[in-house]
Amino acid sequence: MAAPVLVTSALPYANGSIHLGHVLEYIQTDILVRFLKMTGQDAVYMCADDTHGTPIEVNAWRAGVTPEEYIAPYYVEHQRDFADFSIACDCFYTTNSPENQHHSEYIFERLREQGHIVTRPVTQYYCEQDGRFLPDRFIRGTCPHCKAAEQYGDVCEACGTTYSPTDLSDAHCVLCGATPVMRESVHYFFTISAYEDFLRDWMGTPGRVQPEVRRFLETWINEGLRDWDVSRDGPYFGFKIPGEDNKYFYVWLDAPVGYIATTQKFCGDTGRDFDAYWHNPEATIYHVVGKDITYFHALYWPAMLHGAGYTLPRKVLVHGFLTVNGEKMSKTRGTFITARTYLDHLDPQYLRYYYAAKLNGRVDDLDLNLEEFVHRVDAELVNKIANLVSRVVPFVNRHFEGRLGRLDDNVKPLVNDVRARLPRVRESYERMEFNRAVQEIVAIAEIGNKNFQDAAPWELVKQNPPAAQAVCTFAVNCCRTVAALIKPVLPQYAADVEAILHVEPLLFDDAARFDLEEHEIGAFTRLIERVDARQINAMVEASKENLDAAPARPAAPVEALEPEIDLDAFSRVDLRVATVLQAETVEGADRLLRLRVDIGNEQRTIFAGIRQSYAPGDLLGKQVIVVANLQPRNMRFGVSEGMLLAAGPDGTDVVVAEFAQPRQPGQRIR
Ligand code: MSP
Ligand code: ZN
Repeated sequence: MAAPVLVTSALPYANGSIHLGHVLEYIQTDILVRFLKMTGQDAVYMCADDTHGTPIEVNAWRAGVTPEEYIAPYYVEHQRDFADFSIACDCFYTTNSPENQHHSEYIFERLREQGHIVTRPVTQYYCEQDGRFLPDRFIRGTCPHCKAAEQYGDVCEACGTTYSPTDLSDAHCVLCGATPVMRESVHYFFTISAYEDFLRDWMGTPGRVQPEVRRFLETWINEGLRDWDVSRDGPYFGFKIPGEDNKYFYVWLDAPVGYIATTQKFCGDTGRDFDAYWHNPEATIYHVVGKDITYFHALYWPAMLHGAGYTLPRKVLVHGFLTVNGEKMSKTRGTFITARTYLDHLDPQYLRYYYAAKLNGRVDDLDLNLEEFVHRVDAELVNKIANLVSRVVPFVNRHFEGRLGRLDDNVKPLVNDVRARLPRVRESYERMEFNRAVQEIVAIAEIGNKNFQDAAPWELVKQNPPAAQAVCTFAVNCCRTVAALIKPVLPQYAADVEAILHVEPLLFDDAARFDLEEHEIGAFTRLIERVDARQINAMVEASKENLDAAPARPAAPVEALEPEIDLDAFSRVDLRVATVLQAETVEGADRLLRLRVDIGNEQRTIFAGIRQSYAPGDLLGKQVIVVANLQPRNMRFGVSEGMLLAAGPDGTDVVVAEFAQPRQPGQRIR
């Protein structure tokens, strides 16, 4: 048996729904794997959810659930989306698995043994309020270059300058608004420069990456490979670094290891040999990834694999980004379309076809133009590919009781023409130039359609039924050929045609056969319908509404009770009735409201993290409960002189405690 082939696509973050951009990658990968399987290769498709890292940990914390609880509904959702688009992973697993921990630790230890893991202190922003180091995205401040306020810690969206958070003049924590302090901590680094020669060699081998990608990689290497920081301090969701208490592997260390872990899981479930994939220089491993993560897959990853003695990727196939109607997907325009919203409105086969018809194996972005989408699906998929089946099959059933005759000699040149095109289809699939494959398949469908139209069996049948039957026999053979060729793109369509024609599951080589003679076919069943353009609009509208839809989450668990206190301890907490005199938003803090409250003998300013649940006007004149003797807190926006009582899982769903009857401001609450 030939060495196995393993294909992966990048692991979606278990942090949100997948959208049509992700789907572009997963359909592309699925087409490749289906093609390989249909041509007799021993290929498998491995994918998983990417579960670790700060954003997931923080989102879970905000939602009041554990990270495991937070990621669970996405695991279910992603698998349903895959299934409904006929994206058929042989295993879809998770990076939060024992297999992944094992291989991540193993790789780390091998690199460390070879002296390629070093430690050194790193000084970073730390929020004392939240007790955590703040990654770049969790810090905002004024851009050192153009002075635009409220820019993230890594890049200014106003002028595009990138910098490190330490360059911001007035950095503050995105989570709580407090001014972070600088704190030192020891981090682990992977000294990837030790692999420079290896990497130049690996990527210099023809076919490893597309030529344009190789040019990026060369530039990056020439600029110097800098040590890669692979650890993060807790709180973090990830795997603990062996021998450490509060340090974890950075998510990007264990994420690609998920490819290995998923294979391990797959082999355990199916009895296949894990080493045939990951400890076998003959195995063919392909990684399909978006251009944004090239660095991880074409530099860090091969170096890690090489250092730890795993099979190296044969190819890293990089694709561009999806745009919709020529622009970046946009929530306001309704072009940020989730997989599910699409499925609620349109046949997934349309999108598989359209993507295939445009994928050219290069790194260019791919535009989903919704008008062109309707046009191409109708003109090619419906009117050319499916049309022949819907014409000839009912005809054969009506006039010949479903029986084919024999092929006439006069179609020999057409058969030869079709056969001559097959190597081009195969090569185009192999090169991931699916657009060329589709173009060729449509041309073959056209040969079948034209012959059927020109021979006009509906006339011929009146004088010469056997001749008409021969015309139909050629047409049905064309239907089978086209179905076999398009099957990697449209597995459902191919299965429908197999059922209608009463043929075994098609393999790629069946396309060349032209030997369905004196065979009985079945009844016609509906194949692919024309696109209902109203559904396109409905999908766009639904994507506008859908802005913050999240999958159903488990209810937050009830927090454990604090240890018992005595009455004296409680009475030291001074709670007062307060009337809200003023409420306003805080420039640059999208979670905060600044309140001015009357607590009887004095007024206080309080910053409350309730902006996502209350508009300023909602609270004016209300009576609320304030902790009046809390130590004042210095915030970037001013001093907060107390705290408001409120309940909720997080700032997006919080209710402020109020009184059912009016109370005098300043009255004590006990
Ligand atoms: N979790 C990482 C990948 C880890 S792989 C070991 C990640 N996740 S992602 O959900 O952000 O993206 C998953 C894949 O989808 C990436 O290859 C990414 O490039 C691709 N795409 C995300 N948005 C896309 C478009 N708009 N268009 C095309 N592909 C896009 O990165
Ligand atoms: Zn904070």
